[in-house]
Amino acid sequence: MTDDASFDLDVSPPTWNDDDVVACDVFAGAGGFSLGAYLAGIKIAAAVELNGHACNTYRNNLVKTGLTSAKLYTEDVTALSPETLRREAGLDKHGCDILIGGPPCQGFSEHRINGAGIDDPRNKLLLRYFEFVRILRPTFFLVENVPGLLWARHRGFLNDFYRLADAAEYSVLEPAVLNARDYGVPQSRRRVFLLGFDRRTTSAPECWPGDGTYSERRHKA
Ligand SMILES: C[S@@+](CC[C@H](N)C(=O)[O-])C[C@H]1O[C@@H](n2cnc3c(N)ncnc32)[C@H](O)[C@@H]1O
Repeated sequence: MTDDASFDLDVSPPTWNDDDVVACDVFAGAGGFSLGAYLAGIKIAAAVELNGHACNTYRNNLVKTGLTSAKLYTEDVTALSPETLRREAGLDKHGCDILIGGPPCQGFSEHRINGAGIDDPRNKLLLRYFEFVRILRPTFFLVENVPGLLWARHRGFLNDFYRLADAAEYSVLEPAVLNARDYGVPQSRRRVFLLGFDRRTTSAPECWPGDGTYSERRHKA
């Protein structure tokens, strides 16, 4: 049996307690976003990642260590049905509280010059991410990407994303650009975060994005 197969055999969906805050991670990579969610007290029900090596890292660091019992899909998000994920991850009854995800950012990266990146087919994966929002209907969703996503040349794309969200009765807050160094990471790494909430069932959080745990503002206070 390969390492890849060993954790994906249990077919019975897990059960979640009413007070569990349950998330799914789409484009899970090596599990950085899931680890952050775990540290915030969130339970990861499922993670989807195409790259087998990244999945092995995810499995070794998060699943085998018991930090999460996430059902890990080594799959293309365009081939995996969100309905299947919802059923297999035990979310038909509990629902998904938060969908997290860092769609591929190469098309939006600052390393792309002039108009390069505008037609990068990977950009469309952000829209596929939204299909998971539409079907899983999380109370909140949180997208992480590179700040280049906010550039004028990608505005049409971002507007499409906001329009999709609005049509599905989600409100998306102003994009927040955060720097990892304000959160205790010893490197300067800026990333943009889009936070959406289901306006049928909840309202905007009082504080967005909040002060970084190591930010100058917090330390001056
Ligand atoms: C920006 S990285 C995400 C990093 C991740 N959030 C973390 O904390 O480690 C984007 C990930 O999307 C994955 N990916 C790209 N295309 C995909 C697809 N069609 N289906 C699933 N995953 C895909 C890539 O392999 C990559 O690991």
